Amino acid sequence: MIYFDNSATTQSAPDVVATYDKVSHQIWGNPSSLHQFGEQAFNLLEQSRKQIADLLGASQSEILFTSGGTEGDNWVVKGTAIEKRAFGNHLVTTAVEHPAIHNSMEQLKQLGYEVTYLPVDEHGRISIDDLKAAIRPTTILVSVMAVNNEIGTIQPLTEVADVLKDYPKIHFHIDAVQGIGKGIQDMIMNDRVDYVTFSGHKFHAPRGIGFIYARRGRKIAPLLTGGEQERNLRSGTENLPAIAAMAKALRLLLDNEPAKVDMQRQIKERIYNHVKDFPLVTTFSEDNDGFAPHILCFAIRGVRGETIVHAFEEHQIYISTTSACSSKKHLASSTLTAMRIPEDVSTSAIRISLDEHNTLAEADEFNTVFDQLYKQFEKLSSTTADEPAKA
Ligand SMILES: Cc1ncc(COP(=O)(O)O)c(C=O)c1O
Repeated sequence: MIYFDNSATTQSAPDVVATYDKVSHQIWGNPSSLHQFGEQAFNLLEQSRKQIADLLGASQSEILFTSGGTEGDNWVVKGTAIEKRAFGNHLVTTAVEHPAIHNSMEQLKQLGYEVTYLPVDEHGRISIDDLKAAIRPTTILVSVMAVNNEIGTIQPLTEVADVLKDYPKIHFHIDAVQGIGKGIQDMIMNDRVDYVTFSGHKFHAPRGIGFIYARRGRKIAPLLTGGEQERNLRSGTENLPAIAAMAKALRLLLDNEPAKVDMQRQIKERIYNHVKDFPLVTTFSEDNDGFAPHILCFAIRGVRGETIVHAFEEHQIYISTTSACSSKKHLASSTLTAMRIPEDVSTSAIRISLDEHNTLAEADEFNTVFDQLYKQFEKLSSTTADEPAKA
């Protein structure tokens, strides 16, 4: 089988599962306990934190564990809103964020906060002029994703950071859930960023674990209050097996990163170059440095995304409609909608998302199957659409 749905989730790596297993069996104390089992667990917790911090060029105290990307995003957005309420009520984000950001913003709007959604161009990218125009004296947060989960656009994070250097009080948050291990760490961990969200299951760690980078000196309110874990910022007994496993997964991910990124680019390029000239195909992800190496999104006009996904599944090739969140709800992709792609085209979109274990042979196999299926897609397209829409 060929698994091309790594932006939805990744398979836990065997070494990572081994770490999870070992910690569950051997280091099962509560890090807050005073006895030796507690101390042993505490030491492993801090060792994992340090390992993650070192890999990202951060300090140990700047890494805070969460249950994943959704919690990290919710925490930074709402935690900033609560913490900085006295200074302002305006937040800026983009029109193409993951629902974890978008819906947090919408919830804040109901509480009286004001939100500006920056529009995007035909590549799903924000403009720096729009950002500059959006900032107000009351702005408390700018939140921009690193890599779009639906089409792979890389946002101009360095330029956003440059703008925000003139506004030192505004929190700058990056949702890097799709960006880690994809060759853009320097852009993500830039010298102006205050908060960054990461999610373990997107890089071969278990589900339900993640972390945020929180710059020293910055403050957000806790959302989970209780036993005062994570320096009283995020209460709840730590998920130590998953934390240790995630530290291992991050080390494995970042080991030899350039070669892995280069291979994913080659695989993406091979498929992109094959499919792009078919008459019914509209590509959304481009094959250049402005897009992540691992995400390729395109539509086969006149055929629904779900139909395409299931057709490939018959050949044991696993892809998705544009995102795992929208696919079961049969919703048009929010990113493509923000790019003003007509609905009859955006509902025909599919996403291929790679990881460091995919191969060029798999790309060739995909292309062969694509050629076979395309004939069926042509027939389907001519019965469902009088005239294929143009993007
Ligand atoms: C960009 C982005 N942010 C946040 C999330 C949510 O992460 P999690 O599944 O760990 O809650 C996802 C998941 O797909 C994502 O792609």
